[in-house]
Amino acid sequence: MVANIRKKLAVLISGRGSNMEAILNATRFKDYPAKICIVISDNPEAKGLETAIKSGIEARSFKRNDYQDKASHEQAIMEAINASGADLICLAGYMRILSSDFTDTYDGRLINIHPSLLPKFKGLNTHQRAITAGEKEHGCTVHYVNSQMDGGKIISQAVVPVLEDDTADTLASRVLIEEHKLYQEVIRNLAKQ
Ligand code: GAR
Repeated sequence: MVANIRKKLAVLISGRGSNMEAILNATRFKDYPAKICIVISDNPEAKGLETAIKSGIEARSFKRNDYQDKASHEQAIMEAINASGADLICLAGYMRILSSDFTDTYDGRLINIHPSLLPKFKGLNTHQRAITAGEKEHGCTVHYVNSQMDGGKIISQAVVPVLEDDTADTLASRVLIEEHKLYQEVIRNLAKQ
């Protein structure tokens, strides 16, 4: 029988880490073709770091203020990713804009989940902006990361309705459910290749 070789994932977070946890849950299934080898945060207080540690996953934090500049901060993160042997780098609520040095290093292996139907609503406050714009549909996107913020090639999207009485919070919750499913599915497909 051919050995089941699972692709290794580095997951970068800044906070809650619910997308990271969704990925972690998917990797518990024997037939899931990927596993998390490292979780990295720019925020030592990120709740997702605790979740990773409890699951026995290497968790590292790199606080921006501990580094002289953006380049040395990113360099330290890249060294940790490289040492982990990650095949695919997944941004999951990582709230820093990455330099082109970083994105070029992992070209084709660096993906992000964004809470809107890109190319609509790049950047922050996507849910409120969708409501204010009168959108009838909203959702989330997994895309490759390049040096353009939220501008890399789209891999897959999930759509939810915007309801009349939605607030940014109710809409965010509906989108988040889809984010978790979408990220699990996209990683499954990429890891199988
Ligand atoms: C998610 O909604 C993710 O799409 C978003 O931050 C949230 C993180 O939640 N990412 C961005 O806005 C990136 N531009 P999580 O920490 O619970 O996964």
